Amino acid sequence: MKILGIESSCDETAISVTENGRTVLSNIVASQIDEHRLYGGVVPEIASRRHAENISWVAKAALEEANCTMDDIDAIAVTYAPGLIGALLVGVSFAKGLAMSTKKPLVPVHHIAGHIASNYISHPDLEPPYLCLVASGGHSHIVEVKDYTHYHVVGRTRDDAAGECFDKVARTLGYEYPGGKFIDAAAKLGDPKAYDLPKPRVQGSEYDLSFSGLKTAVINLVHNAEQKGVPIDREGMAASFQATVAKALVDKTMLAAEHLGYKTIGLAGGVSANSGVRELLQKECDKRGFKVYMPELKYCGDNGAMISCQGYYDFLAGKRADGSLNGIATLSL
Ligand code: KG4
Ligand code: ZN
Repeated sequence: MKILGIESSCDETAISVTENGRTVLSNIVASQIDEHRLYGGVVPEIASRRHAENISWVAKAALEEANCTMDDIDAIAVTYAPGLIGALLVGVSFAKGLAMSTKKPLVPVHHIAGHIASNYISHPDLEPPYLCLVASGGHSHIVEVKDYTHYHVVGRTRDDAAGECFDKVARTLGYEYPGGKFIDAAAKLGDPKAYDLPKPRVQGSEYDLSFSGLKTAVINLVHNAEQKGVPIDREGMAASFQATVAKALVDKTMLAAEHLGYKTIGLAGGVSANSGVRELLQKECDKRGFKVYMPELKYCGDNGAMISCQGYYDFLAGKRADGSLNGIATLSL
């Protein structure tokens, strides 16, 4: 069964064809990041316009790369929530038009469910149930993946998402947007003990996360140093910050896994590309004899393959949409 998966929730127009969920036949990503970088973040209006310009050729390219036509496609899956509303609407409208004109089923996919599914592509043996840490630019969740379409969020960030925090700290240190990967590269050259940063703490729910205090601490340290004319050790700060975020994410995930009895752990979302988070999660899972699954780097950020893959499982579960499907900016998993 072949699914065309469409993703346009943020700044990537991404379309893929997968076969039986886990085999990627094509995966085209048109990134707008070079344009948004000029503004230091994603400009929603520009994102929507570029999606509208790109979506037709990205779809054609995805079909071509998969060596098929719409006649070979069994269903169309599309990200409908959450994300930038104007950006989502381009993908949703395109998918509705395509489904209507080709008389193919339309499957609505939640973006976070898509990120979780990225691990099915890279790991044919992975099957629910397991516990997944999802950390991206907009979300940081610890999720019980009960089966392919049922989830229970046990922990979430109270304020900034992990990726958002990476990007803001990166900007403060003078790196371009989105700065997560620059922090990652700089951290490899720095001493993670160079700065003593506050450990993120949360009152109440034991699996919730918080990153705004850490972000503010880094910003204040950097600004104070600038005012006093003291040079900042950028690599040391990047390494200290990354180690603190990785520890917060991994500690909470291990705590949840131990309490809830999970021995299989997944990692997903843009921040799953971070080498510090990957290494620490692997180390802590090895220590406990847990099995850990992380996506290949090309499936960590937003892509169509993860939507197509999740679309397959949503299709099997009977999820369908019609011409009334709308984009939804905020929707929990
Ligand atoms: O999942 P994603 O592509 O988009 C959202 O759904 O938000 O995640 C993007 C986020 C950005 O904040 C970006 O800086 C971060 O993922 N990111 C990283 C790395 N690569 C991407 N953060 C830390 N280390 C990386 N290597
Ligand atoms: Zn995403």
